Formats: sequence, C-alpha cells, structure tokens
Amino acid sequence: MVEVRYCSRGGNTKMLAEAIAEAVAVEAKDINTKVENEVDTLFLGGALYAYGIDKALTTYISELDKSKVKRVVVFSTSWLSKHAIALIKKGLDEKGIPYVDEFIYARGKPNAKEIAKAKEIAKNYM
Ligand SMILES: Cc1cc2nc3c(=O)[nH]c(=O)nc-3n(C[C@H](O)[C@H](O)[C@H](O)COP(=O)(O)O)c2cc1C
Repeated sequence: MVEVRYCSRGGNTKMLAEAIAEAVAVEAKDINTKVENEVDTLFLGGALYAYGIDKALTTYISELDKSKVKRVVVFSTSWLSKHAIALIKKGLDEKGIPYVDEFIYARGKPNAKEIAKAKEIAKNYM
C-alpha cells in the first residue's frame, strides 16, 4: 500500500504530489489527513519557506506512527534550495522512520519535464 501526503501553501508541491499520486494510482492528500493503514511507501512532500518547512509539516512528521510507515520517499519544491528535503529527513531520523536516499524535486511550479521525472521515480516505489 502506498500513500501520498503533502504540505503546500501555494500549490506547487500539491501539483507534484498529484503527479506522484497519479503515477502510483492513489489520491494525494494534504497533511490534515493522517495515515490510517500500514503503508509500504509514504510519499511525503513539503516546500521551503524562508529556510524552514511549514510548522504543520514538522508536527505531522513528529506525530507519524513509525509502526505504520515502512519507508518514506521525500519530495519538495522550492525556488532554489533543496534544504526542505534535509529538514524532512531530519524529522524522520528523529522518529526512526526509514526513507530512501532518492527524492523528487521541482523548482517552483513543476514543469512537464519535472512532472514526467516525478512519475518515473514514483513508479519505482509502488
Ligand atoms: C515566504 C516564502 C519564503 C520562501 N523561502 C525560500 C527559500 O528560502 N529558499 C528557496 O529555495 N525557496 C523559497 N521559497 C520558494 C518556495 O519554496 C517555492 O515557491 C515552493 O514551490 C512553494 O511551494 P508551495 O507552492 O507548495 O507552497 C519561499 C517562498 C515563500 C512564499
């Protein structure tokens, strides 16, 4: 089982989440929806806002149930920095939740090439 969760203020990360979700045939949901069932892969995404990730995303990660998430694939969008990926992974480390090294990224609003790449990567973790 695979799930997609995102935190997106402006819609860019949501757009990437929806591409990922389409590739793995599930529905992308924002982080207000908790993971209920055991998932093999959780695609978890957020963006960088002034060097940090949204507090709601930090809280979401801290409240993740380690017993329900086998591994995470992180995704993000930003103007330039990929720091959000490191921050999400740091939160997962603190929970002891495994993640893959590979990540999915788009610079701002995902373009067609980034959408295609996201789908290609996502399919490897179905
Ligand atoms: C208030 C604010 C601060 C931002 N700070 C950074 C930043 O420090 N570094 C960066 O690379 N991008 C930064 N960005 C760009 C966002 O990460 C980028 O627009 C991202 O795609 C937003 O995702 P969203 O549309 O899902 O909210 C910032 C954007 C906003 C609105």
